Amino acid sequence: MSYHSVKLIKRPELEITEDIFNIVTQDIPTPAEGEVLVKLSHLSLDPAMRGWMSADENSYIAPVKLGDTMRASGIGEVVKSNNERFPVGARVMGLMGLTEYAISDGNGLNVIPKELPAEAILSVIALPGITAYHGVFEVLKPEAGQTLIVTAAAGSVGSLVGQMAKNLGLTVVGVAGSDEKCQWLTKELGFDHAINYKDADFVEQLTQATPNGIDLFFENTGGLAQGPIFERMNPHGRIAVCGLIADYQKAEPAPGPSWVGIIKRRLTIQGFTMPDHFHRIPEYGQALGAMLGKGELKYRAHVIEGIENATSGINLLFDGKNTGKLIVKL
Ligand SMILES: NC(=O)c1ccc[n+]([C@@H]2O[C@H](COP(=O)([O-])OP(=O)(O)OC[C@H]3O[C@@H](n4cnc5c(N)ncnc54)[C@H](OP(=O)(O)O)[C@@H]3O)[C@@H](O)[C@H]2O)c1
Repeated sequence: MSYHSVKLIKRPELEITEDIFNIVTQDIPTPAEGEVLVKLSHLSLDPAMRGWMSADENSYIAPVKLGDTMRASGIGEVVKSNNERFPVGARVMGLMGLTEYAISDGNGLNVIPKELPAEAILSVIALPGITAYHGVFEVLKPEAGQTLIVTAAAGSVGSLVGQMAKNLGLTVVGVAGSDEKCQWLTKELGFDHAINYKDADFVEQLTQATPNGIDLFFENTGGLAQGPIFERMNPHGRIAVCGLIADYQKAEPAPGPSWVGIIKRRLTIQGFTMPDHFHRIPEYGQALGAMLGKGELKYRAHVIEGIENATSGINLLFDGKNTGKLIVKL
């Protein structure tokens, strides 16, 4: 029996084009001693994949080697096992790649409950949730009464950040790229305000939505909104730099705000990447599961079907056409 997997065969120039991938058909392998064979059911498409495709050796994780299966996280079922930690039938999650079947030695593989829908796990308990949780609780450390703003607010990380902050009693402002996304944030998720950064009067709307300035800024995008938001930061404000998706496909990143403003407003700005904190996944996962169970976190998943659509699907993240966590169902 055969299966398909996506190999990275070229580095992207700027944008992700179809010719950088090759979808290959291979025979399903047999796991060696200590290994398991996993049949993937759901793959996660994430903005970070653009960085993993580049040749940059100075990042937090090594680039994908040309010819290798494209790195991606996913959920699947163990169908053959030579590893007692992962018996046949176990549902597992890990960085198994853009593939229908994967061999794993168990490193980085986690057993996950079968009761929750895969969409809920990938949207909340997996990378988006642990990223939002770490950025909110460990970096921004919010206090009730403060004003928090989050960019890519209708995306998988941003939507959870805003809900966590609302649940803690903050005033929450979301920035997103369409009116539909803004309405979802205020009507369904309870954000106090949501502003479309593409509106000509974005700065006026931002000023009106933040009459007391901004205490906490969860930055996911860079781009048009960053400068005006920076200008509204309050003294001793904190900025968590989680992502800069507006720059990922540019030859040169946009210049950021002046450091003079950091001094004048005595700001704390901290970048973070989750692989540094993967040891906290059990703790964060438990907290997120509890929030989900209590109905404190809503999510929406954007599901596309078939591995052959994964490679073009990644671009939905960069043109803003994904509505929620981008998932490939196999
Ligand atoms: N530090 C970490 O460990 C970590 C972990 C996970 C994710 N991240 C980062 O968090 C950010 C959000 O990731 P996600 O998985 O939750 O993706 P997402 O928000 O679900 O999807 C990406 C969104 O980014 C917005 N976007 C794309 N290009 C943009 C541009 N030029 N200017 C402004 N917005 C733009 C689009 O929304 P609009 O329609 O609103 O434009 C798009 O839907 C990304 O930057 C990602 O790299 C970091």
